[in-house]
Amino acid sequence: PTPTKALPPLRVAITGGAGQIAYSLVFMIARGGVFGDRAVDLRLLDIEAASDKLRAVGMELQDVASPFVLRCTCTTDPLEAFMDADVALLVGARPRGPGMLRKDLLAANAGIFKAQGAVLDEVASRDCKVVVVGNPANTNALLCMRSAPSLPKRNFTALTRLDQNRTAGMLAAKIGVPVSMIRNAVIWGNHSATQVPMVTFATVEEGRAVETVAARLGEGGERWVSEELVPGVQQRGKEVIAARGASSAASAASAICDHIRDWVMGSDGRVVSMAVSSDGNPFGVREGLIFSFPVVIEAGGAWRFASGFTIDEATRSAIEATQSELLEEREAALAATA
Ligand code: NAD
Ligand code: LMR
Repeated sequence: PTPTKALPPLRVAITGGAGQIAYSLVFMIARGGVFGDRAVDLRLLDIEAASDKLRAVGMELQDVASPFVLRCTCTTDPLEAFMDADVALLVGARPRGPGMLRKDLLAANAGIFKAQGAVLDEVASRDCKVVVVGNPANTNALLCMRSAPSLPKRNFTALTRLDQNRTAGMLAAKIGVPVSMIRNAVIWGNHSATQVPMVTFATVEEGRAVETVAARLGEGGERWVSEELVPGVQQRGKEVIAARGASSAASAASAICDHIRDWVMGSDGRVVSMAVSSDGNPFGVREGLIFSFPVVIEAGGAWRFASGFTIDEATRSAIEATQSELLEEREAALAATA
């Protein structure tokens, strides 16, 4: 594939450019397709302590000789990275150190995302699409959005596509079909162990043949979903960390590509999961949060809440639990950055 000459390159900022997710992500973007046939002007941001490693990523990217990468700037200056950015993939965050409590991490990272939001507010494109990946992703996205009041709230999202992909992958393996046939498996709430993977409306689709996942799972299916699938997805990140000694990177990078490709080019009628501003949601979730919902995205980037996802009693109480966790995170992050 070759990039179009009809449109200028998209300006794409990636933070945590020297980290392990970026080490997959930038090369996936360089293969083309993530932004259709648009080329990119990449800006990789990291902190001073990681500047040598960042420079090496820049060298390797040049050595890929991709026609889709028109330019790549490696920088430790957020102003340079975010100037006129059309897309900001906020991956960089402080990792949890030995003895560090979740709330210490929350405070350290909330500060980073609050500061980056202010820079985006000042210099990014007025339609910059922001995807927060660094954990705790939902709350970091909220802090970022709150410090960028001149950008549309709808442009701030956090990544839960990895959780959706995990759900679809596990379902496909259980049923014995290609994962591309699984539709409408969605994630509600926080990107954490309280997230709510929901397969009530999931289907297996082959051409015009549509069957419910429940029918394909058959007897014992409901029990497998509640006892194996849901906790399996909720704990998958932890399981990967335990097995490889580092958090998921290639699958996270791939999910970021899925998220931003669907956001920029539209989800083609598919329902996808994104953590977005809960303001105006029709599902009864409290406003003022960044919360994962099923959404549909038009070509051009306008997303709307998906219809038809009615919530049963058990799912409602799980959604309330993940909402409570997000309210607590919000309180702690706001207090730490006041
Ligand atoms: P990593 O530690 O390998 O890389 C993080 C990078 O961010 C480092 O190079 C670090 O120097 C940089 N960084 C720290 N502060 C920064 C700042 N202020 N500005 C710019 N860069 C900064 O981590 P990783 O494996 O690449 O993961 C990145 C984040 O993504 C982590 O918070 C991880 O928990 C999270 N994550 C989220 C998901 C998800 O689905 N939402 C999935 C996997 C990982
Ligand atoms: C993941 O879902 O793989 C990560 O968010 C896990 C983590 O804690 O970094």
